[in-house]
Amino acid sequence: MTGDQPLIEVTDVHRTYRRPRVSLTRPGRAVAALRGVSFSVTAGQRFGIVGESGSGKSTLIRLLAGLDQPTEGTVRFRGQRVSGRPERQLGFLRRELQVVFQDPMGSLDPRMRVRDIIAEPLVAQGHPDTAGRVAELLEAVGLPQEAAGRFPHQFSGGQRQRVSIARALAPRPSVLVADEPVSALDVSVRAQILNLLADLVERYALTLVFVSHDLSVVRHVCDTVAVLRAGELVELGPVDRVYRAPEHPYTRELLAAVPTLRGALARFTTRTAEEEQP
Ligand SMILES: Nc1ncnc2c1ncn2[C@@H]1O[C@H](COP(=O)(O)OP(=O)(O)OP(=O)(O)O)[C@@H](O)[C@H]1O
Ligand SMILES: [Mg+2]
Repeated sequence: MTGDQPLIEVTDVHRTYRRPRVSLTRPGRAVAALRGVSFSVTAGQRFGIVGESGSGKSTLIRLLAGLDQPTEGTVRFRGQRVSGRPERQLGFLRRELQVVFQDPMGSLDPRMRVRDIIAEPLVAQGHPDTAGRVAELLEAVGLPQEAAGRFPHQFSGGQRQRVSIARALAPRPSVLVADEPVSALDVSVRAQILNLLADLVERYALTLVFVSHDLSVVRHVCDTVAVLRAGELVELGPVDRVYRAPEHPYTRELLAAVPTLRGALARFTTRTAEEEQP
């Protein structure tokens, strides 16, 4: 493997969902969620994907994470095929690439204590000191040690997202994929979680793939941005260039539709009041 080989390589990926047949005379409608998407992500890149609701962002994330299969095209990680492989052959990917989802309540098992939620991937790996590692991770995401004994519902939304982030970091991944990690949170805690993600990416030298419909957020967190529109990548480039001189009319439209960009950025950079402790 050469040093400049992309970490993630997406080649002409299509994903069509077949809606179930409604009746004998009315066949199900096909939805083309991704229509020929290609791009690559190199190690250390902070790669943002923006697009409106329904543009295919989450579909793309599921394909990158090997949680779903493309209808056509390939996804590779460090040159190895992710697409077309059964789950039992994706161990290499599960160790290296972890996903943080939008809704921390939906992605955390409500019956498990935080220590077991975070330790689960470690136990699976036969980690020698799960308790020590859990303590380290709680510290890294800014949660008090006593959080370990609590259940997800005993936390605020922002704190639950901290738990999801700790769990994602547990196997020491090289890539963190975040699908709208702050959209379900109170506006007042979004900046804290984004700052935390940015700090962790720096601290652990992670490669980041970050999905958002909010351009101001992507601009702040990422160095590269891809614009997805109705299942197609219409623009891809360094964030500074794309925001300063968008090439595609759709990107210009998206940028023009953010009248409060300045305000949003100001909100983002101003650290808001501390979240209440658990
Ligand atoms: N499991 C599914 N079955 C059928 N259609 C689906 C499925 N998942 C997604 N779709 C459709 O595929 C398209 C892309 O959806 P996707 O969730 O990837 O968009 P998104 O960009 O993540 O949107 P949002 O910003 O709302 O999260 C949409 O038209 C959606 O309705
Ligand atoms: Mg989505």
